[in-house]
Amino acid sequence: MSEDLKRHAAAKAVEDVRPGMRLGLGTGSTARHFVDLLGAKVAAGFEVICVPTSEVTARQALGLNIPLSDLETLGQLDLTVDGADEIDHDFNLIKGGGGALLREKIVAAASASMIVIADSTKLVETLGRFPLPIEVNRFGLAATRHAVEAVMAAHGAEDGLKLRGADAGEPFVTDGGHLILDAFFGRISQPEALSRDLLDIPGVVQHGLFLNMCSKAYVAAPDGVKTLI
Ligand code: 5RP
Repeated sequence: MSEDLKRHAAAKAVEDVRPGMRLGLGTGSTARHFVDLLGAKVAAGFEVICVPTSEVTARQALGLNIPLSDLETLGQLDLTVDGADEIDHDFNLIKGGGGALLREKIVAAASASMIVIADSTKLVETLGRFPLPIEVNRFGLAATRHAVEAVMAAHGAEDGLKLRGADAGEPFVTDGGHLILDAFFGRISQPEALSRDLLDIPGVVQHGLFLNMCSKAYVAAPDGVKTLI
């Protein structure tokens, strides 16, 4: 059921793709449906050129013969389509559940517009129930962790901080070779201030708050796909 909903949202976004567009391809299980459906259009002769936001998405797109390029070659993109872990009513997002937040943010920022595709479980009143992924440099991890904890305390975080993968005995490593700290806020009441405070920490490479980046969302529920603009 959930996969059906994700696919329905992805199908709506495919309708927005125009021939010749320079497209950013997101990462995650919902974005995977979009790439899949786009691949079917490309196989039927539709022309686009795409920049993937992760090695996983690049492999999927290559397998579907979707033409790929990079931001060095294309510069600005027309549109990025990606999933999200949380979406609030101002279209602010938490992303990075799949660990691709850095490339996702670079690609979205280089795009004229960003469409988010999701099922309705991703809609929230206030961001923060989903742990905020924070991509950090390996160097000085303990110091960075300490600084992130101080920011969390200042922002009233309800719970702690986890190094992704540590429970499984092997830290998760991003495509950029960095680590991810998952920060359990419970509720993020001042996302802009939190964003600035996290980026002020030298060891923080990027975080999963995507603020004012998304212009439209297709949100699928059992009674249909809603367009949020
Ligand atoms: C990956 C992401 C994903 O878009 C986000 O985690 C949503 O994934 P899914 O569609 O599998 O729920 O940000 O870094």
